[in-house]
Amino acid sequence: MPITVRQIHRHFVGEVSGADLTRTQTPEEIESIRDAIDRLAVLVFHEQPFTDEQQIAFTRQLGPIENSAGGHIAKTHERRLGALMNDVSNLGLDHKPLARDDRKRMFNLGNRLWHSDSSFRAIPARYSLLSGRIVARSGGNTEFADMRAAYDALDAATKREIEDLVGEHSLIYSRGSLGFEDFTAEERMMFRPVRQRLVRTHPATGRKSLYLSSHLGTIVGWPLPEARAFIRDLTEHATAPAFVYVHRWRTNDFVIWDNRQTMHRVRRFDETEVRDMRRTTVAGDAPTAAQVEAA
Ligand code: OGA
Ligand code: MN
Repeated sequence: MPITVRQIHRHFVGEVSGADLTRTQTPEEIESIRDAIDRLAVLVFHEQPFTDEQQIAFTRQLGPIENSAGGHIAKTHERRLGALMNDVSNLGLDHKPLARDDRKRMFNLGNRLWHSDSSFRAIPARYSLLSGRIVARSGGNTEFADMRAAYDALDAATKREIEDLVGEHSLIYSRGSLGFEDFTAEERMMFRPVRQRLVRTHPATGRKSLYLSSHLGTIVGWPLPEARAFIRDLTEHATAPAFVYVHRWRTNDFVIWDNRQTMHRVRRFDETEVRDMRRTTVAGDAPTAAQVEAA
């Protein structure tokens, strides 16, 4: 059955009907999903009751899966889900909400900040695919911001100024901005900063977007306070209400977003309740900037 896509925001976001992603897709179906993501940057599907295996199988049809290693602080024996799944729930191994001061919970609170997934990796993520297995009763919305529309709305002088700028991204910056700083030496090594361009061009559509993220901590060649102040200005501009779509989750909703053209964040909810969200990620294919080895 051909899928139907209805744009539900002025700038981006398609709501898709007629798809059953739990089964193998035809090449034509994959092609139309890909085209829709390129164009609309975020796709919302309802009624997709995935198992982890089915979610992984569908994700593989869109491209190679990014391994979650190197992007979190949970030790292998502390992980609730397999290595190809990102656990963005608020749950521990016992399927109960983590304690308020649990280190993993405090680290995961970084998802409340606007970000692009894996911008802290030298080769950052392409798509993220998030399955709402058990959603919050109230709150816990995920918000998305269109970084192409935000780029387009900049004045010409700012566009010229930022065209070739390169930023440094790290989980140490995003978590540090919330006051989470007790990283082990091993984690500091794992999370050492990587370089990303501030302006990206989408390979399929040629549209430019602002490549911002909470992980972005400085701009190469700029004094630190000036870089931080400018990053705040750009982020404030890019996440103005006109560029934002708010997703209110229903059970078994499935949202795919293109990290090359959007940012997202989760909002507060009652964390004594279970919110079981599971993400798979399609890996990117190239760095956005040349990397330098930390001195
Ligand atoms: C993510 C993420 C937000 C949420 O999965 O990458 O940031 O709503 N999740 O849980
Ligand atoms: Mn995320």
